[in-house]
Amino acid sequence: MKLTITIMVIVVLVVFAIAGYVILRYRRRPGDKSIPVQVEGNHKLEIIWTVIPIVLLIIIGIPTVNSVFGLAKDYTKDPNAIQINVTAHQYWWEFEYPKLGVKTAQELLIPEGTIISVEAKTADVLHSFWIPSLAGKTDTNPGGNVNTMYFKADHTGVFLGKCAELCGPSHSLMDFKVKVVDKASFDRWVAAMKNPVALPQDQEVADLLNKQCLSCHAIGGNGGPAFPNLTGIGGRQTVAGILVNTDDPKYKNEGTVEHNLEKWISDPQAVKPGTLMPKVDLTQDQVKAIAKYLAGLKLDY
Ligand code: CUA
Repeated sequence: MKLTITIMVIVVLVVFAIAGYVILRYRRRPGDKSIPVQVEGNHKLEIIWTVIPIVLLIIIGIPTVNSVFGLAKDYTKDPNAIQINVTAHQYWWEFEYPKLGVKTAQELLIPEGTIISVEAKTADVLHSFWIPSLAGKTDTNPGGNVNTMYFKADHTGVFLGKCAELCGPSHSLMDFKVKVVDKASFDRWVAAMKNPVALPQDQEVADLLNKQCLSCHAIGGNGGPAFPNLTGIGGRQTVAGILVNTDDPKYKNEGTVEHNLEKWISDPQAVKPGTLMPKVDLTQDQVKAIAKYLAGLKLDY
């Protein structure tokens, strides 16, 4: 892009400078009624203005074609790349790190400056995996297709991810986050994800969690593998990918992770119409107790 724009700017400046000079220098003066000498064809000029663009196009073309074909490079077998299996669900994202034995949801954690090799598929309908600031879109097609792509983040930070293919009533709410951290933090996160997680101390809450949540969700080594893994959910930037967590006192109690969890667990359909997360039969106090426990699930990394 930089090379192409530099060359184009230089061409614009030269052409406009010559045009301006000719318009001023050879304009018709007051009182001048003569017809200028009529000139047709000039081999030297014609060769110059044909050869210069050809040379410029070759200079632009070679790196462009190189880059475009580079986008299709396959890193799925590269031992230096981080392999990630992305599975799209109505309406959430599953991220599996097969080589590292880690599975998470809604928040993709990656190390900076490392090639991230993605194999994307869907569990149901057509979605599209998109992190606008980091890479192009990759569709997740029904029918067992696996589409590959790769990207790299050069700096740490948090990036917004979107589903970019209409997939149902909550398509526009199918957001996720990409958290880019330094390599040491990433290694600590992988280790922390594998640590066993203690169930709530209160036996009543622990039983409730086991019965109502862990029949589907997994937390640490507990629970089922089928639905979004909740390990470290208290430290995520969002609940359900769309309720933004904040400790900013400006929002009072509104956007804390605990409040967002209460809102989500009490009535998932109100947050994400069409979600498969069921509204479970819980009293307000039970919802609060579970939200409080989940909000405390934070990982050190
Ligand atoms: Cu998934 Cu739109």
